[in-house]
Amino acid sequence: MNSQSNSVDNAERWESAMFLYHAALKNVKTKIDILNGEFKYIHNYNPIEHVKSRIKSPDSIMRKLQKNNHEVNIKNMVQYVHDIAGVRIICSFVSDIYKISRMLMLQSDMDIVQVKDYIAQPKPNGYKSLHLIVRVPIYMASGMVDTKVEIQIRTIAMDFWASLEHKIHYKFDGQAPEHIAADLKECADIVARLDARMLSLNDTVQNANRERQISFSGFFVNTEGGSSDEEE
Ligand code: GTP
Ligand code: MG
Repeated sequence: MNSQSNSVDNAERWESAMFLYHAALKNVKTKIDILNGEFKYIHNYNPIEHVKSRIKSPDSIMRKLQKNNHEVNIKNMVQYVHDIAGVRIICSFVSDIYKISRMLMLQSDMDIVQVKDYIAQPKPNGYKSLHLIVRVPIYMASGMVDTKVEIQIRTIAMDFWASLEHKIHYKFDGQAPEHIAADLKECADIVARLDARMLSLNDTVQNANRERQISFSGFFVNTEGGSSDEEE
């Protein structure tokens, strides 16, 4: 009887914890959507290509707790598993990654718990992304609960690399043959060079646009004054 009421209790606590993570995910996705819209409005372009999100499966939560030698229970899950709610933001350019993260850090109703910059310091296998663990307040009838969300921000090219690396990692149980690991590392270097060149090309286009705008505005000032060269 006692163990039965315990498991009912646990099931209820699990449901209510998962409800919080779903709510936190929605909250963060809405913030990101608003930031992207605001950025488009001010700068006339979208820094975000697309956003993916997921809630970690119970199996994967359990494996993570076991991997880190924690007993599997809801208290430990809430305390030690930071990526139950996860959002991935995919940008075109590396500079967009830092723009987005700065904008997120300025949000007053979101605490930044941890920042891992695997772009400044890539993992030995070549993995690059900016990781933030944030905490957002979720208001329930019973009170406010701070809830963690992991945000990964990366470029399209970094994302392409990471998804292939992930498949290879699982295929070989984390022990890919040396030549494959070396190939992957080389691809990561190519990704870094591609990202740098795309950024520099984009800067060139932006500067050219800016110069054109300046010369256009000069033209309009002249014609409005009625004294441009063409009219004389
Ligand atoms: P995990 O136990 O893997 O969650 O790592 P962690 O808690 O030490 O955090 P970390 O910031 O290193 O990684 C968090 C998440 O980033 C992972 O769950 C993956 O989604 C992603 N990630 C980290 N390292 C790699 C990598 O080498 N390859 C790929 N494809 N993804 C990675
Ligand atoms: Mg993870």
